Amino acid sequence: MAAAMTLYRSTIGKKAIMAVTGVILYGFVIVHMIGNLKIFEGPKGFNEYSHFLRVVGEPALPAGTILWLIRIVLTLALILHVNAAIQLTRIDSAGRPVAYKKVKRKQASFASLTLRWGGAAIFFFVIYHLMHFTIGTVHPQFIEGEPYHNVVSGFQLQPLMAGVYLLAVAALGTHLYHGVWSATQTLGLNNRRNDKLFRGLAVLSGIGLFVGFAAIPVVVLLGIIK
Ligand code: HEM
Repeated sequence: MAAAMTLYRSTIGKKAIMAVTGVILYGFVIVHMIGNLKIFEGPKGFNEYSHFLRVVGEPALPAGTILWLIRIVLTLALILHVNAAIQLTRIDSAGRPVAYKKVKRKQASFASLTLRWGGAAIFFFVIYHLMHFTIGTVHPQFIEGEPYHNVVSGFQLQPLMAGVYLLAVAALGTHLYHGVWSATQTLGLNNRRNDKLFRGLAVLSGIGLFVGFAAIPVVVLLGIIK
């Protein structure tokens, strides 16, 4: 226990927490992106999938149990991820004189700055997104239990918001590129030989995620899905 606390307090321990919780959150966004693509199956397929998420586990478990377990795990992962990020930022700026930061750490600073600001933007996007498609408070025509209608009408009625989604998923793609890259370093997975492989994987995961998510607002705006 004492060893675990020492590790938690250390920089490397915080980075490991970021990497492990990042993998959990990453797993969610991939599954969510694939689930979203069911929109191409039409209203029935998409709405059934959403319903399935609410009843999965029945009758052994009451409706919503699995969904709420997933929500709890994701919320805990998000809190730990953001908390470790804030603590690492504090350690970073406390330990580094301004001149040194400016001259020597230009590249690393750029990557960590985009991670931090991009991360903050994604955090606020998720809050807005929950109010938009899950709770419906900021949606002009929200209908409970009809996510196909909510997504299509949401983007049709507020094309500017579709633009915000595109920016958010671009920030997410960039965040995952940097995140995957720094996680391989923190977890000690990469070395000189497989450096290129990991960078390639990081680029691909960022672009893949962007394309998969961006497809939906784009096809709605183009009128391909209505
Ligand atoms: C164009 C991109 C996206 C679309 C069209 C979309 C669509 C949706 C829809 C329709 C729901 C409600 C599902 C339901 O009620 O069954 C939802 C929920 C959610 N989305 Fe997205 N989403 C997108 C991007 C994202 C991104 C980038 C993230 C995270 C970074 C995200 C995180 C979530 C979360 C956390 C929920 C709540 C799940 C729950 O607890 O019920 N979404 N999304």
